[in-house]
Amino acid sequence: MAGGAPKRPRSPRQGRPAPQARTGRGAQAEADVDKAASEGIRVQKLLAGAGVASRRGAEDLIRRGLVTVDGRPAVLGERVDPARAAVEVEGRRVALDPGKHYFVLNKPAGVVTTMRDPQGRPTVLDLLGASERVLPVGRLDTATEGLLLLTNDGELAHRLTHPSFGVPRTYLAEVTGRPGRAAVRRLTEEGVPIGEGMTARADDVTIVDALPRGPQGEGRSLVEVTVHEGRKHVVRRMLAAAGLPVVRLVRTQFGPLRLERLAPGSYRRLSHAEVAALYRAVGL
Ligand code: URA
Repeated sequence: MAGGAPKRPRSPRQGRPAPQARTGRGAQAEADVDKAASEGIRVQKLLAGAGVASRRGAEDLIRRGLVTVDGRPAVLGERVDPARAAVEVEGRRVALDPGKHYFVLNKPAGVVTTMRDPQGRPTVLDLLGASERVLPVGRLDTATEGLLLLTNDGELAHRLTHPSFGVPRTYLAEVTGRPGRAAVRRLTEEGVPIGEGMTARADDVTIVDALPRGPQGEGRSLVEVTVHEGRKHVVRRMLAAAGLPVVRLVRTQFGPLRLERLAPGSYRRLSHAEVAALYRAVGL
């Protein structure tokens, strides 16, 4: 911050305790706070702004020792840099940076997961009325529907899509055929060949329901599949390899994030708790 001495809290109620009241870890906390005091925003204000609690509620959380800043107990009135500090409430990371945006979109079939399409097809950007610049986290096929996360939080997006983090994705698939135990076992215990090699084992395959027959009288079923790999068309290809071609595919969950009751084509901002859960899922 340009020029000027660090602003000190005026009222003892809102400010930090007097230095003489602090010893040991408290003194260290005081020193840390002094260092950060020249910049940033008061922690209770940040927490209120992030939707964690009202300003008073946030103050109460801090007094009760439930808030940490970079791993040490937060001090009421201290200023933190929201772009850099790791603030946690009861061990859950809070997304503080006001420049970071997180949306979940229920992508309909026929919409492409790009921001612009040379063929002029509708894109997810067309659906996202929000003016903030965000990017899709991974891709859904044009024909696939359901949960698509969009954010400008690059580190989170990287971790959510990088294979080493193995973030699970859950899909509801309408398939042709009646899956038997052997198909489920192959998918979950062995993996199946999909051109460039074997798939990883699916985390879970559940036969949800037998559906009405298709137009040619073929049996159809509803299957829930959870995988932790993001290879192109992986669910369609793995189910086809198990003898269950996909008729319709909807992603319902991505890590801890659920689609819930979001109408096709609409989107919403993630709640503080949802962002915190995503952070936790990838070790942030
Ligand atoms: N697997 C697929 O086959 N398609 C998707 O869109 C996502 C995962």
